Amino acid sequence: MWDWGEHLATDDEHHALTLKRMIASLSSRKQTRLPQVLEHASGDKRFKILEAHMKKHQFKHDALIEILHKAQELFGYLEDDLLLFIAYKLKLPASRVYGVATFYHFFTLKPKGRHTCVVCMGTACYVRGADKVLASVEASARIKAGETTPDNELSLLTARCIGACGIAPAVVYDGAVTPRQTPEAAVERVKGWIDHGH
Ligand code: FES
Repeated sequence: MWDWGEHLATDDEHHALTLKRMIASLSSRKQTRLPQVLEHASGDKRFKILEAHMKKHQFKHDALIEILHKAQELFGYLEDDLLLFIAYKLKLPASRVYGVATFYHFFTLKPKGRHTCVVCMGTACYVRGADKVLASVEASARIKAGETTPDNELSLLTARCIGACGIAPAVVYDGAVTPRQTPEAAVERVKGWIDHGH
């Protein structure tokens, strides 16, 4: 049984224990969400790509980090539903998947912004101007990719190929994959979130 508490700094055992308890309770609450998660996954191509990737690794438990990397590439960050989906498919306790995702600094958990904008920077999107789309949103929101506006309204992230190359450049606004974005369209889309907070 994985005990990720032992991977934390030993001079902070109390913190490790608290975090461990928190993860355990979070995991049990999330089990009840599984039916909704699977329904959500069935309509989102990114989950299919991720599942194919897991299959390539024969759903092996020791491929968890590699699979979390792929998930982050596809989604820009690791949200709770995504971690639960991975746990279900790999037949791992959600606590373990959540523990690994929170332990390594190179994984980004769901950002704190009320809205999220994930700009795909994969090759197909990049050659069709994704860098300009990203730059325009950065300038408009006055934040860089990976950051959240000071009022916590918008988090801006990037992904590497979200499986929608045919409609490049693609941007995901609050989970909705949106095709053929221009800098103007992207700014228009996030403007309401920045200006009015809705
Ligand atoms: S490169 Fe953006 S969807 Fe594939």
